[in-house]
Amino acid sequence: MNQTPVIFSGIKATGKMHIGNYLGAVKNWVTLQNSGDYQTIYSIVDLHSLTIDIGKEELLANTGDMTIDLLATGIDPKKSILFIQSQVKEHAELAWVFNCILPVSELEKMTQFKDKAKRHKDNVNMGLFDYPALMAADILLYHATAVPIGDDQDQHVELTRKVARKFNNRWGEYFQEPQTILTKIPRLMALNDPAKKMSKDLGPKSYIALSDTPDEIRDKIAKAVTDTGGGKNAVGGKNLIDLFEAFVDDDNIAAKFKGDYKNGQLQYSTFKPMLANVIISALKPIQEKRKELAKNSDYVASVLKEGAEKARTMAEKTMREVREKIGLL
Ligand code: TRP
Repeated sequence: MNQTPVIFSGIKATGKMHIGNYLGAVKNWVTLQNSGDYQTIYSIVDLHSLTIDIGKEELLANTGDMTIDLLATGIDPKKSILFIQSQVKEHAELAWVFNCILPVSELEKMTQFKDKAKRHKDNVNMGLFDYPALMAADILLYHATAVPIGDDQDQHVELTRKVARKFNNRWGEYFQEPQTILTKIPRLMALNDPAKKMSKDLGPKSYIALSDTPDEIRDKIAKAVTDTGGGKNAVGGKNLIDLFEAFVDDDNIAAKFKGDYKNGQLQYSTFKPMLANVIISALKPIQEKRKELAKNSDYVASVLKEGAEKARTMAEKTMREVREKIGLL
């Protein structure tokens, strides 16, 4: 048996994609897809989005926006399977099985759960607690052997390996343990608060969305917190250097600014406008593609329909085998 290895990853429908999502994970999704070495499967995980208090219209709009963003950044439905998680029922079904082998004590260790429970005290629901079981189901349904993600998700993939081992111990060797794949910048920091990870939760000044206008980008970079004053913001300058390196084509310029930064000689008044320009031009082709796709909703719908069909065929096979292994009729 010499099958193409499977790569799986997911992204929540939290609205428009920002450069933290893009550089932390999605850029890698595209590279892995284009390598031709894998069957790549990518999902917009709307069931995971339900763990926070989100309205119907917002969820629908976010799912649509994320689909367009993924296609605009280069996810190619001819090469990858792209689908919406809730359209393949087996995700929820396998998550239930995993619920029955996952100790509560393991879930209690998850830092993401602890953080979110603290931040949304009024909505600490079971789904939030159980989030990693569903994530393990996402990955293992397709027998993925590698998962490209940002570093905040590493603990969940580690737990997925544990789930695979527990399943195999109880019902016989079946699932392979997946590995994490990180990008060069697995964690981009918030522009307005560089001690924290770039995130929608910290408000629009924290991040640059792929769809931000040139003026918005210039403004956010101009106001980005740098190392001035040291202390907890000491990573702010480094974060901007990382961004420059990720988006610029000319390695020499990047090396020069990096050197200046290290020597404490970086002139932000020169560097920041250049950084803004580099980001603006890197995002331009993505934004043009985005506009085109937004006009073509029939095409986008057909991509998702086909993606769900392909994913379903694989997921149904796994669930048939799982049911048979564990004694469900
Ligand atoms: N939890 C991931 C995040 O917040 C999204 C996700 C859900 C995912 N299921 C997954 C990532 C499976 C990788 C594999 O970013």
